[in-house]
Amino acid sequence: MPNIAFINGKWTSLSSAKISIEDRGFQFGDGVYEVIRTYGKACFELKEHLTRLERSANAIEIALPYQAEILEKIIQFGCRKSRFKDTMIYIQLTRGTAPRGHAYPKKKRSTLVMTFRESKPVSEEIRKKGVSIISTEDIRWARCYVKSLNLLPNVLAREAAKRAEAFEAIFIREGHVMEGAGSNLFAVFGDKIVTPSLGPYILSGITREIILRLGRENGLTMVEGSLPLDDLYVADELFLTGTTIEVLPVICLNQKPVGSTKPGDVTLSLFNIFQDYVS
Ligand SMILES: Cc1ncc(COP(=O)(O)O)c(C=O)c1O
Repeated sequence: MPNIAFINGKWTSLSSAKISIEDRGFQFGDGVYEVIRTYGKACFELKEHLTRLERSANAIEIALPYQAEILEKIIQFGCRKSRFKDTMIYIQLTRGTAPRGHAYPKKKRSTLVMTFRESKPVSEEIRKKGVSIISTEDIRWARCYVKSLNLLPNVLAREAAKRAEAFEAIFIREGHVMEGAGSNLFAVFGDKIVTPSLGPYILSGITREIILRLGRENGLTMVEGSLPLDDLYVADELFLTGTTIEVLPVICLNQKPVGSTKPGDVTLSLFNIFQDYVS
């Protein structure tokens, strides 16, 4: 089963895929990205991901080289070609290749790279047990709704989590929760399920949006508001959402137990509701 790549219109094996060292994505992180997964042959929320890609690209004035409908077809072709059971699609769009200089180059020719690999789910063992998280100061820029290639704060935060044997790091700004380095966070307080409202420091996660909608459709009280870090210590349950992790229970925050230290009922019920939606 091959890992394959698509580079500016050409298909290649992942191992032989190459781009110039003068690509601005490599030189400046001057680009945006998306991560999409399939369940079987079906791309999950493909339109929503491509809309977000276009929004990110517009925000930094990079033109998408294909219309969304064409991109959809290319992605579906790639999934068939790679023949995995579930596929993880990574899309990276940069401002293209040009001699190094910070301002935009005169010649506008973006680079579009897509890779297709096998999607590996979170193990049953981790999902059943729940994960630990840490909090970390949010040192990111004020346009986190753009899915930018500049991920250095996220890299540092995830490394800090890894060193603390935690699964995720949660960005905290002025005492308030923003989001994880690669996920959104929800907290359960009695019958209320709270997640930070969208703003400059939060990516509108596709999974976050689905969970808010499915929760409401199932009669749960889903609240978008402010979420102080201190409140997380008294939450009944915490969980993370994201494309690869889906709905993942959190049982420990900064080495302190969360709720009953077992994945909670609300989290499990939202996980099951999400699975029904997926299937
Ligand atoms: C910073 C950040 N927040 C949230 C998410 C979750 O978004 P989604 O549910 O669309 O995967 C991601 C996913 O990559 C992310 O990088």
